[in-house]
Amino acid sequence: MATSLKKCVEQTADQATDLVANLVKSIICDAVAQRGRCYIALAGGTTPHALYQRLAACGTGDDVPWMDVDIFFGDERDVPLDHVESNYNMVQRTMLDHLPLEPGHVHPMRGDADDLDAAATEYEQTVRDLVPHGTDGMPRFDLILLGMGGDGHTASLFPNTPAVEETKKLVTANTVPVLGRRRLTFTFPLINAARNIILLVTGDDKAEAVAGLLSTDQAVRSRYPAAKLQPTDGMLAMVFDVAASRRT
Ligand code: 6PG
Repeated sequence: MATSLKKCVEQTADQATDLVANLVKSIICDAVAQRGRCYIALAGGTTPHALYQRLAACGTGDDVPWMDVDIFFGDERDVPLDHVESNYNMVQRTMLDHLPLEPGHVHPMRGDADDLDAAATEYEQTVRDLVPHGTDGMPRFDLILLGMGGDGHTASLFPNTPAVEETKKLVTANTVPVLGRRRLTFTFPLINAARNIILLVTGDDKAEAVAGLLSTDQAVRSRYPAAKLQPTDGMLAMVFDVAASRRT
């Protein structure tokens, strides 16, 4: 078991996005070259918009084998797939509509299901059925891309919510009192089983959370769910811009 941690600070959000775009492309090319297919899970929110547009812009131009990629989502809001708040909708508009992806290889979460707990179980089964398992029997994504909120949440693993401490389920429906909503989300056991995890965080509104995440004080770190990102056998790359890391 080998774990590596990379921390990169780029001058601007644009440069941080460029660095992550190149990392994503190389992870996809390596996975397909070594194993024939690549399994990635994408982040929601606003930060990755530019990244998805950049990946879409390179399209088929730079030999990324998109037709050999399966796309999953690390979390989803409790809205229909065509809703403006839907992470799937955002990724479809910024990237999926512009890439030669096979429709059957894009796997949205059913955020608008009447029974979100059943939708979480169903999505977990899809992940278990389609994503190759590691030696520990866990589905092992080639890449899970994540962002982080100002409170240190990642995916939809918000502070003081049940999903943060989940140890059995791989996907769960998380009740988020601070939003007054429920979200579908990957849990840390699934996230930390990935070969590669990329955390992309930009902007000075995230500076306090980044400082907490990187704090050497365990009591401080424990307040930020993203601090539980610890790959069991893989690489974690935390990519920040100067604004987000100004308090570290
Ligand atoms: C979501 C995300 C969430 C996001 C953070 C940061 O569904 O909102 O998956 O984890 O990454 O909230 O969001 P911003 O990039 O918009 O700051």
